[in-house]
Amino acid sequence: MIKHPITIAGLLLAMFAVIGVGLVAFTHQATKAQIAENERQALLNSLSALVPATSIDNDIVTDLTVISDQEKLGTAETTVYLGRKSDKPVAAVFTSIAPDGYSGQIKLLVAILADGTLGGVRVVAHKETPGLGDKIEVEKADWIHGFKGKSIGNPDLARWKVKRDGGDFDQFSGATITPRAIVKAVKNTLIYYQENGKKLFIAKPKTVKAEAKTESGK
Ligand SMILES: Cc1cc2nc3c(=O)[nH]c(=O)nc-3n(C[C@H](O)[C@H](O)[C@H](O)COP(=O)(O)O)c2cc1C
Repeated sequence: MIKHPITIAGLLLAMFAVIGVGLVAFTHQATKAQIAENERQALLNSLSALVPATSIDNDIVTDLTVISDQEKLGTAETTVYLGRKSDKPVAAVFTSIAPDGYSGQIKLLVAILADGTLGGVRVVAHKETPGLGDKIEVEKADWIHGFKGKSIGNPDLARWKVKRDGGDFDQFSGATITPRAIVKAVKNTLIYYQENGKKLFIAKPKTVKAEAKTESGK
């Protein structure tokens, strides 16, 4: 018989530890599929805001390609979600990054329609200053809607700048750095598409875990 109180306490502790670890493992396993589904749904919602579900007939969340152009797309690996209808290209949604926000990277979804015009832009994550730089969020201002329908040539490439720099896009009062960074990133994504767009849709669909979520990242 084990009678020593320290031994009994040790055994009890070990028992609770085993039960605790078991419970955590069980909960993790049980919620994993739900979390993956929630992430997929969040991504699908973000993509559907830019590429209407009725305009495509493929699963845009899993029909994707991963490309690399650090200079134009702001990161070494960029996922591009591909929308197709009857196997014809409808839209490419780039997970571009504006590397030079006021407080670092601004993560974007840039949707480019097959004709080279923008289906729209959304900010997925950023750390810009509330009240100054955060008017880039669709929930806070209309500014981000200004990209829809624009393209290289509308306006001319030279006017893809904020007004302060001689371009066509509004800056915010007291905050020029944030919108400047986004205008540049969207322009560079359009240029990438102009140069490589056709190749994107030739790539075989590759299935990976849904990765982008809509959040302001603060
Ligand atoms: C505490 C603090 C936070 C700021 N946050 C931002 C920001 O998030 N985005 C931005 O563009 N400018 C921000 N600014 C202002 C920039 O430093 C810079 O002055 C401004 O972007 C330049 O725009 P302007 O020429 O219109 O003044 C911030 C300034 C301070 C002092």
